[in-house]
Amino acid sequence: RSGISFRPGLEGVPVTQSAICDIDGMQGRLAYRGYPIAELSAHSSFLETTYLLIWGDLPSPQQLRDFEAEVQMHRRVSFRVRDMMKCFPASGHPMDALQSSAASLGLFYSRRAIDDPKYVYNAVVRLIAKIPTMVAAFKLIRKGQDPIQPRDDLAYSANFLYMLTEREPDPLAARVLDRCLILHAEHSLNASTFSARVTASTLTDPYAVVASAVGTLAGPLHGGANEDVLAMLEEIGSPEHAGDYLDEAIASKRKVMGFGHREYRVKDPRAVILQGLAEELFARFGTDEMYDVAKALEAAAATRLGPKGIYPNVDFYSGLVYRKLGIPRDLFTPVFAISRVAGWLAHWREQLGANRIFRPSQIYTGAQNRTWIPSDERV
Ligand code: CMC
Repeated sequence: RSGISFRPGLEGVPVTQSAICDIDGMQGRLAYRGYPIAELSAHSSFLETTYLLIWGDLPSPQQLRDFEAEVQMHRRVSFRVRDMMKCFPASGHPMDALQSSAASLGLFYSRRAIDDPKYVYNAVVRLIAKIPTMVAAFKLIRKGQDPIQPRDDLAYSANFLYMLTEREPDPLAARVLDRCLILHAEHSLNASTFSARVTASTLTDPYAVVASAVGTLAGPLHGGANEDVLAMLEEIGSPEHAGDYLDEAIASKRKVMGFGHREYRVKDPRAVILQGLAEELFARFGTDEMYDVAKALEAAAATRLGPKGIYPNVDFYSGLVYRKLGIPRDLFTPVFAISRVAGWLAHWREQLGANRIFRPSQIYTGAQNRTWIPSDERV
């Protein structure tokens, strides 16, 4: 009726105007607020990039110090949240634990003050500060251990690795993780960010916005792919099997995890940087035999998938980096979530700045004018 044609997956359909993130999928370019991703990942910190994404400009030195101090002050989570997490099944996926814990923050902090800049600032600080603590807490709680409290003398990423591995991390490891967080922080209207904007458009609280986005990120076609990539590389086992694996996957129309992107027709610029980070880690801490399998798969895919514009995406090399950092496989996607909270919150603010509730239409394809039949007359 509207005259607009149906586009499955909303492919190519603009659903908002945004000044946050710009992607050139043909040239393989990505910029946050106008700054190329390579520059940010080389020179910025995750918290500085978070500030940039959410408030639009790089912070002054004082603004950054204040933001870092506020985030540091709010890293701890209430014992009630920890106790709630103790009731989660140890076999549950950490993304489900994170979605529930993120939503639970809405129970503690007042709702519907979203017009108040102070409320917005505090909510941003709390979510950025507490999400890593909750991810690390569940890792220990599911083993029957008490979570480790954050350490005030450690910066954001170093503190997360400390809470996770129970050891003060090597500075290179902490910097590599910080760079990974910058790389994953934002990527325009991907599924989880769209989900965040839809939720935001109802004027609910930011904890619900983040919880809905975490649930969306968890799927294997989105953030969950990073976990599946390592499983796939292990299944391939050695570089010489990469070509056969690919042929078999293509013949049986199975997706190759960590390949392909709705936006990119070339190698994802984040995958290029992540591959470099993996190599830095391998040079320092020893290689990972799955890296050779990954490179062989990428080379084999160049001729088989490349002509269709299917190349490695952000998830292809990130698992190898995370594994070298000592992060367990089922925490790869929660680490992605820690970072993407920055983007989700930037879109939350932007959505509220020019809000109209999302309410798309549909094309009804079901039955018409049926008559109800009593159950004893149904066959
Ligand atoms: N392996 C093999 N073939 C593929 C792949 C792949 N990974 N991705 C796309 N194709 C093929 C697909 O079979 C289809 O071929 P045909 O036209 O012959 O039927 C064509 O390319 C278009 O695929 P599509 O699924 O319609 O494309 P899309 O834009 O809907 O999907 C995607 C994008 C990311 C969901 C998809 O590429 C995919 O499933 N990749 C594997 C999962 C993955 O790595 N996800 C992480 C995405 S990046 C990070 C994130 O979003 O979190």
